[in-house]
Amino acid sequence: MNALATTAQALMAPGKGLLAMDESVSTCDRRLAACGIAPGDEARRRYRELLVSAPGLGERISGAILFEETLHQRNAEGVPLIEVLRAAGILLGIKVDIGTTPLPGHAGERVTEGLDALGARLGRHAALGARFAKWRAVLVIGTDLPSRACLQANAHALARYAVLCQAAGLVPIVEPEVMMQGDHGLARCAEVTEEVLCQVFTQLREQGAALDGLILKPNMVLPGASFPGPTSVGEVADATLDCLLRVVPAAVAGVAFLSGGQSPLLATERLNALHRHLKPPWPSTMGAPISHIAPWPLTFSFGRALQEPAMQRWAGDDAHRVDAQAALLHRARCNGAAALGRYQP
Ligand code: 13P
Repeated sequence: MNALATTAQALMAPGKGLLAMDESVSTCDRRLAACGIAPGDEARRRYRELLVSAPGLGERISGAILFEETLHQRNAEGVPLIEVLRAAGILLGIKVDIGTTPLPGHAGERVTEGLDALGARLGRHAALGARFAKWRAVLVIGTDLPSRACLQANAHALARYAVLCQAAGLVPIVEPEVMMQGDHGLARCAEVTEEVLCQVFTQLREQGAALDGLILKPNMVLPGASFPGPTSVGEVADATLDCLLRVVPAAVAGVAFLSGGQSPLLATERLNALHRHLKPPWPSTMGAPISHIAPWPLTFSFGRALQEPAMQRWAGDDAHRVDAQAALLHRARCNGAAALGRYQP
């Protein structure tokens, strides 16, 4: 097997998933401040030290996605945080997009930037030991949104990023996020997510990306955050599987969902339900409808849904550090179980 596919499979190891801890400086500071913690360089360093040194993290976390500053952060003893992760058996990933900017002529829409000189940056990250990378595009649902222009611009950038990663020996995590904001129902999110993924895989094919050496990081198919009605965990699981099965090629190495602002508990329950809605694997599935057989492993690549309880418990006080690490490990274990369909609330 080629090296990219081997890395992708290690990231998708059964019962494990990814820890997204790649918040930009401003996002991380905002989340710290929301928990009553004075933000700043040292608070971010101490918080990330707490995360990466949680004992046993590597049992459920296969890879950590870092923001560039964490490549150079050290723990209180002066050990680089990337060495702490490596010692825990956790593969290093790096967010390489530089954020989103308004898409000219398309009010309310954004395109992700960061392609300039990306090849050289990826080479430097690989030299530091990074094995994979992440690029996030955001799409919003509105009456006439997302526009074709926004879909195509973002899909093209994701595909250019993906082939540059593969040329540098890094597995690309391809993250087109359909945002939850809005009052639309499940069906509208399914329709938009299908279109987004269709465009992304069309562009990946045009650019020549190797599908067995990349991981898709999609949103689950969810009702809008202000949709008035109830939606069951099972409905989300069915809508998500139906959507992915229509447009994600079987050769893709894996699917690792983002949490996107879902509560930690719901994100876990929905991941678990996705697995419970799959029929047992071949050959016992002969005759089962195709919508019930997933050709790729499904796991988590959560940010907020893994970190939120830990950050709240820490609250900036190292007297709560052990408690905070326990909260992180608990969510990692719950999600690891959900990634096997074995989560028990
Ligand atoms: P959330 O799980 O908080 O959506 O974060 C995942 C991520 O990597 C966003 O880019």
